[in-house]
Amino acid sequence: MSKPPQLLVGNWKMHGDLSANAAFVAELTAEVSGLACRAALCVPAVYLAQMQVLLSGSRIDLGAQDLSAHEAGAYTGEVSAQMLRDFSVRYCIVGHSERRLFHAESDATVAVKAQRALAVGITPIVCVGESLAEREAGQTEAVVKRQLAAVIQANGHCISEIVVAYEPVWAIGTGLTASPEQAQEVHAVLRSQLKAASSHADRVSVLYGGSMTAHNAAELLAQPDVDGGLIGGASLKAQDFLSLLKAASR
Ligand code: 13P
Repeated sequence: MSKPPQLLVGNWKMHGDLSANAAFVAELTAEVSGLACRAALCVPAVYLAQMQVLLSGSRIDLGAQDLSAHEAGAYTGEVSAQMLRDFSVRYCIVGHSERRLFHAESDATVAVKAQRALAVGITPIVCVGESLAEREAGQTEAVVKRQLAAVIQANGHCISEIVVAYEPVWAIGTGLTASPEQAQEVHAVLRSQLKAASSHADRVSVLYGGSMTAHNAAELLAQPDVDGGLIGGASLKAQDFLSLLKAASR
């Protein structure tokens, strides 16, 4: 089966402001119409309303960076899956390593968040990845399999509706990228785990994330089990993100 178009997702993390966002989208949408890849931007929750308007009618889908594990209720500061849906959110990152680390999100919480997203028709982008210490201890495969297993277990046959992002923690924001071979090795492990769980696992895009730029994207995206990228730093400037989209469209 030939590969579906690559999926490139920008994760702005805690960056952006009203005027910069508008300028970014104007610059981006002026050039994206002819590109072959799929693209989305995961923006801070407060900018979803603005970005929904700015991206409407464009080829760029809207994404969020997190959602509540609860459906509704007395959870001060939380944003529910249904609220995201109100703003035409198509994707939501769950289990990013920064949330696992700084907000103590467990595998079980991440699995419930994926469930909440799927329940309202949002595609969860489930992040998995090992720390440097875990890689050096030879635990990479065990760690990513444990993280994905929790999501598979909680989501059963819906698992073919998720997107997975392999983000080695040591490669995030460091300028250190996994080599194409290192990425492929882990992606192949994740792919076979998905295939064991669902006969429709071929539908699942498995993205690579961690210091991906226009310079290293082509080699990473050429790997058989790499279906796109989750991009932090290089999604903050429209021209950088555009260069990546172009690299993914070749
Ligand atoms: P960088 O591309 O800045 O390394 O960030 C990757 C990431 O964490 C995307 O979610």
